Amino acid sequence: MTAASRKAFAEALTGERIRVDLGERSYDIEVGHGLLAGAGARIRPLLAQPRVVVITDETVADLYLEELTTSLAAAGIIHAAIVLPAGEGTKDFPHLADLCDQVLALGIERRTTLLALGGGVIGDITGFAAAILLRGLEFVQVPTTLLAQVDSSVGGKTGINTKAGKNLVGAFHQPKLVLADTATLTTLDDRQLRAGYAEVVKYGLLGDAPFFDWLEEYGDAVLRREPAALQRAVAVSCRAKAAVVAADEREGGIRALLNLGHTFGHALEAETGFGAVLLHGEAVAVGMVLAFELSSRLGLAAAEDAARVRRHLRSLGMPADLSLLAGCPTSADALIAHMRTDKKVRNGRLTFVLARGIGDTFVCHDVAESDLRALLEEALVVTTAGKPKP
Ligand code: NAD
Ligand code: GLY
Repeated sequence: MTAASRKAFAEALTGERIRVDLGERSYDIEVGHGLLAGAGARIRPLLAQPRVVVITDETVADLYLEELTTSLAAAGIIHAAIVLPAGEGTKDFPHLADLCDQVLALGIERRTTLLALGGGVIGDITGFAAAILLRGLEFVQVPTTLLAQVDSSVGGKTGINTKAGKNLVGAFHQPKLVLADTATLTTLDDRQLRAGYAEVVKYGLLGDAPFFDWLEEYGDAVLRREPAALQRAVAVSCRAKAAVVAADEREGGIRALLNLGHTFGHALEAETGFGAVLLHGEAVAVGMVLAFELSSRLGLAAAEDAARVRRHLRSLGMPADLSLLAGCPTSADALIAHMRTDKKVRNGRLTFVLARGIGDTFVCHDVAESDLRALLEEALVVTTAGKPKP
């Protein structure tokens, strides 16, 4: 390890505070190993009233609810907890209605704060409940998956799924604080951790080439959950997301870069039944490779950049091609049809984040369908023939 790497690791271990600069809606993201035990003391100064309703899921409740509530009690915060079922199925209208009824039954007031303890599902539904209950409560995010720590807990997108699709009902509602305790990731299963890691890689690819270089060297340490490596990966990702959100809170412009790999990813998730075969991060991993391959095919990026992205993901055991669709009859047409149902479609045109190289991306609305079809047909032939690209 170089002296610079040793210094970076040492800094990471002390934890980090990142500001999301949004005027009167600004807030901090705290990233550190073991923050949960002191959560009450960190949250207390932000509360309009020393009263919190914790919302979590059954899995996370068994692991971390007691530690959290002990710290809330130690800080003099009155608290109650509501435990929802774990999993994507919870992010729907019936669970939202039930959650709102349970919170209201506690006799809350406008100055009561909700606290989301869990992954992106709990963060999204709690944030949305906070946005609509009593016309707006404050809320705090305590994310416990890697995906939630680097993406969903930051930026104020909240919501639920409907029959028409994912995240189609929701609100922008920023939290008062994000507390990302990387120690909670030690209990996360390997597949979920790798899926979240795809979103970490995304920040390197979309705007920070030195971070991608770092991940090539230390990505395996992140996935081994080495505390310093995890903290650095989460903190750099949150800093990148905070900067994008501060510049474009409502996704009128550069926030769309956060969708790198997501147009392809959405099509893969839709084709495989949203969660039945692929986790969101796995679909995004493949989608990022396809976005770089499309960029290379259009003469925008070097073929070696696409190969580098594919090699990195594959070296860490992540899906990087369409072989994951083996056994699922599909076609370029079917994937393009799913892309047309994506939220990112604008005036009927598909939206892609393309690259000029690693760390240099832009939003593009005019990819020719013939180029897209050729890319997908080739990707499907190569991988279903059992010969993934090197
Ligand atoms: P999740 O919340 O379902 O968590 C995944 C699983 O891990 C669950 O079973 C959960 O109980 C378990 N778990 C959570 N923390 C754990 C821990 N520390 N140890 C052991 N198990 C743990 O899924 P997710 O991947 O965190 O989030 C996915 C959701 O996030 C999707 O609904 C997606 O739409 C949403 N999302 C939102 C945004 C946004 O900007 N709001 C961004 C990306 C994704
Ligand atoms: N996850 C994409 C965004 O927050 O904009």
